[in-house]
Amino acid sequence: MAHRLSRSSGSRARTLCVLAAGAVFAAFVGMAGCTGSAGPVVCSTGSAWEGGDDESPLMHPGGDCIGCHTSRGEGPKFTIAGTVMAAADDDTDCNGVEAVTVEITGADGTVLELPTNAAGNFYSSKTVATPFTAKVKKGSAVRAMSAAQSDGDCTTCHTAEGTNGAPGRILAP
Ligand code: HEC
Ligand code: HEC
Repeated sequence: MAHRLSRSSGSRARTLCVLAAGAVFAAFVGMAGCTGSAGPVVCSTGSAWEGGDDESPLMHPGGDCIGCHTSRGEGPKFTIAGTVMAAADDDTDCNGVEAVTVEITGADGTVLELPTNAAGNFYSSKTVATPFTAKVKKGSAVRAMSAAQSDGDCTTCHTAEGTNGAPGRILAP
């Protein structure tokens, strides 16, 4: 099932797909009409979020946390949020990499250490002085962003395709 989730962000479309899958045991037939032109979610981890818009720290890994919470007027107001994923082109909703640390250093030198949870998600609601720098750490291994950024919504750039020159998803070192 993990590979057959609809890519649609509309919860209605997702609900219909889940119902169709339940009604038609031949999953391929059941889901064929649900994937749309975007195709099924492809995850290098073989594991995906299946909870739709249910509120959770594990929700929508690789999704636009801050953008969705802001546009819906629901969910926590994060200043920094994103997902460390296992492959540069992993689709939205693919579970990412747990237990690495995202380190954000604000323009004023304040350091935030954000551990990734079981979905690979990390987030903070603390004020961050911009521009900030970002790195991902695991033990002594480090993967750092060269340029400083001012948008704490990491997924604005770190999409599966790579937006604004970003090399795809944020990866573990
Ligand atoms: C497509 C929209 C959408 C996306 C994308 C999204 N969220 Fe949410 N999130 C919501 C909504 C809506 C709520 C509030 C639901 C409610 O209040 O019933 C919420 C609530 C939450 C909560 C509160 C949960 C709790 O137990 O109090 C957390 C934490 C959260 N989101 C984290 C994230 C993270 C981290 C990401 C990105 C990796 C993310 N969300 C992406 C829609 C989204
Ligand atoms: C406005 C676009 C943009 C935003 C927002 C952004 N990044 Fe980046 N990121 C890039 C670009 C472009 C690169 C590649 C060039 C560089 O390293 O500066 C990059 C590279 C990285 C790398 C190094 C990648 C590698 O494989 O070596 C990490 C780690 C990273 N970003 C983390 C983050 C985190 C964490 C956030 C959110 C707090 C974030 N980025 C927000 C554009 C962005």
